[in-house]
Amino acid sequence: MIIGIPREIQEHELRVSATPETIKKLIKLNHSVLVEKDAGSGSFISNDGYKNSGAKIVDSSDEIHSQSDIILKVNPPKKIELEKIKDRISIISFFQIKDQVELLNQYISKQITYLSMSHIPRTTLAQKMDALSSQSNIAGYKSVIIGADLISSYMPLLMTAAGTIQPAKILILGAGVAGLSAIATAKRLGAQVFAFDVRTAVKEQVESLGAKFIEVKTDTDEGTGEGGYAKEVSEEYKKKQFALIEDEIKKMDLVITTALIPERPAPILITSRMVESMKKGSVIMDLAAINGGNCELTQVDKTINHNGIQINGSSNIVSSMSIHASQLYSKNIYNFFEHIYNKENSFLNIEDEITKGSMLFEQGVVKNDNINKFLNTEDIK
Ligand code: NAI
Repeated sequence: MIIGIPREIQEHELRVSATPETIKKLIKLNHSVLVEKDAGSGSFISNDGYKNSGAKIVDSSDEIHSQSDIILKVNPPKKIELEKIKDRISIISFFQIKDQVELLNQYISKQITYLSMSHIPRTTLAQKMDALSSQSNIAGYKSVIIGADLISSYMPLLMTAAGTIQPAKILILGAGVAGLSAIATAKRLGAQVFAFDVRTAVKEQVESLGAKFIEVKTDTDEGTGEGGYAKEVSEEYKKKQFALIEDEIKKMDLVITTALIPERPAPILITSRMVESMKKGSVIMDLAAINGGNCELTQVDKTINHNGIQINGSSNIVSSMSIHASQLYSKNIYNFFEHIYNKENSFLNIEDEITKGSMLFEQGVVKNDNINKFLNTEDIK
């Protein structure tokens, strides 16, 4: 197959879907690779680096879009890219259905086969392909570093000749991949860390990282849904949760929010009133900004100042660590590619669980229930 690696055109995107290291491996599998000129510049990978790995450098994305059998990307194509992509091609990238609604019909009419890195089942076998985790890990780490920079105070406890400085207090809302990574980073910097999650199963993980788990007292584990993922909680639970956060947030110097239920808008956990009750100079890093935000004041890709409290809504923190983000993403995508394609004939292993879970379209035929729901909604044409 001819595999195409275009330059990402999404704003704030510095990652690339393949590094010279993974391109060498693709070539070993008997494929040829086209890389758009400067595709790696955001991740400090030179055109020569790609050339030396055996890839052919092409001057424009048009050549990638017209010659490739399969395109590997970080973000799904924008409308202008999709229009140029030839029919019956395969694409692998992250894919949030709610952000792609306008283009769904084009994937059908162009008979595209789409495999989504966002839909790979989170099974043990698929761990090495789990790009959501590799990238969220980075986002959790970097959100603490950015937050530490914004709070204008020390993180650790310090005993100095001029007096004792108390450690910063950090609250992490949502202790999934990004949240746990943020806890570990904040602890390394010496902060006092508190965390909350609707899934009580994470309590042990939070505590093993040295943070205090704050919890809503209920008789049932109502925040845990199918496959161990979070699910929508009752109004009664939400009231208790608001009261808990309201109580804790006043004491915090930095709050990092990562709460998300798959395929849903991010739950609002921090109201304006809560923000107004916080200490002046404190900071909220809202990692869920792109999904609507966990704080009701968050603005995507802006840091706003609300009565002395800064709220950061960066949607692509991961790109600020593009070297490692691209290295890990390209390894995930290579592992996925190697798993789903048959070595002998480059056909997809359609019956495989990972292929099935991640496949959104097969030659234009919709393979994902949520896409069908969107397509059947009256107002989407
Ligand atoms: P995850 O699914 O591993 O973790 C989400 C956590 O939120 C789960 O533990 C879940 O139980 C918890 N949760 C759900 N509803 C909750 C509620 N009402 N209250 C408290 N906790 C709740 O997801 P992951 O991979 O850690 O991603 C977290 C967020 O970070 C997502 O919104 C994702 O889009 C975002 N993200 C942002 C990046 C950025 O650059 N801004 C980069 C990577 C991820």
